[in-house]
Amino acid sequence: MKPLEWIDGKLKFLDQTKLPLEEFFCETDDVVFVAEAIKRLAIRGAPLIGIAAAYGVALASLSLNHSVMKEARAHLVSAIDLLASTRPTAINLFWALERQRRVMDAWQADSITDLQNNLLDEAKQIHQEDAEMCERISSFGIELLPNDCSILTHCNAGALATGGRGTAIGIISKAWELGRLKHVYMDETRPLLQGARLTAWEMKQAKIPATLIVDNVAAVLMQQRKIDAVVVGADRISMNGDVANKVGTYSLAVLAKHHGIPFYVAAPVSTIDVQMSTGKDIPIEERDAREVTESFGKRTAPESVNVYSPAFDVTPHEFVTAIVTNQGVHRAPFSVSLKRFIVRRERAG
Ligand code: MRU
Repeated sequence: MKPLEWIDGKLKFLDQTKLPLEEFFCETDDVVFVAEAIKRLAIRGAPLIGIAAAYGVALASLSLNHSVMKEARAHLVSAIDLLASTRPTAINLFWALERQRRVMDAWQADSITDLQNNLLDEAKQIHQEDAEMCERISSFGIELLPNDCSILTHCNAGALATGGRGTAIGIISKAWELGRLKHVYMDETRPLLQGARLTAWEMKQAKIPATLIVDNVAAVLMQQRKIDAVVVGADRISMNGDVANKVGTYSLAVLAKHHGIPFYVAAPVSTIDVQMSTGKDIPIEERDAREVTESFGKRTAPESVNVYSPAFDVTPHEFVTAIVTNQGVHRAPFSVSLKRFIVRRERAG
């Protein structure tokens, strides 16, 4: 199942807010609709947000014609700005938009058709690269896992969140295919239940043995020695190895360290923010209070109660055992191992 596809000049995507009850696909040729879909989490997960945004810019270019040649750049810049304003934490969004901006800057302002083709080619390339990065992450990641292991994961870092088989879930599904996985435990992931709604749905589709827990149960499982490793995705990784991911990740990392359980982060290199030296400056999205007090249509708190709802937290690098990217396994000191990655990235051009 593909969460997102380009079909005949339109973007077709699975509305993830409707899972697991309904597999509902939307089709659009409107960049505003794409931006709204990202904002309301119909399209979500750091890599998929980047891919969708890249297609969004390609869609925006399709409404250009030769009579508005002069306004083409301004039109695209406003589409890029709109997409950039949707969600602040996942760096993949800005990384993909930057790639589209470079395509636009390289355009000689001659043929609109060339510009449209180039933007679409770049979006398809970003999509394809992400699928390949997921494969590589999965191959590197399974080498970290013991045989017959039980893994705990948080949120959804699977096929629904990427252009391929997923990052954390990519490792898990590969371990299952190779007969190395015993069981997966999935945090429900309050308040929007990405674990319960999405990861549980993916595990069911793949027939991987899995158990859903409310977030608070993770400590009990670790105490009972039922978890061999925690594997999660990431929305942004700073150069010292601090990791922003779905809120609740940090508490898992602290728990894992206390119980002597390895804590692995899986992400493509597009999730590394080469400009950010530590995680303290990572912008953290705050969500609407109603997602906490009225999630899924039922009020569960008194009216007008104060709510603090950060969507992500930052796990300090000292709690991270290793970061698995498509370039390999990075270990502490991350400021050295991730710096090596930049050198390789620059050499690769
Ligand atoms: O708010 P979401 O559902 O977009 O949050 C998603 C996560 O936190 C994922 O773990 C992260 O984006 C990695 S997805 C491969």
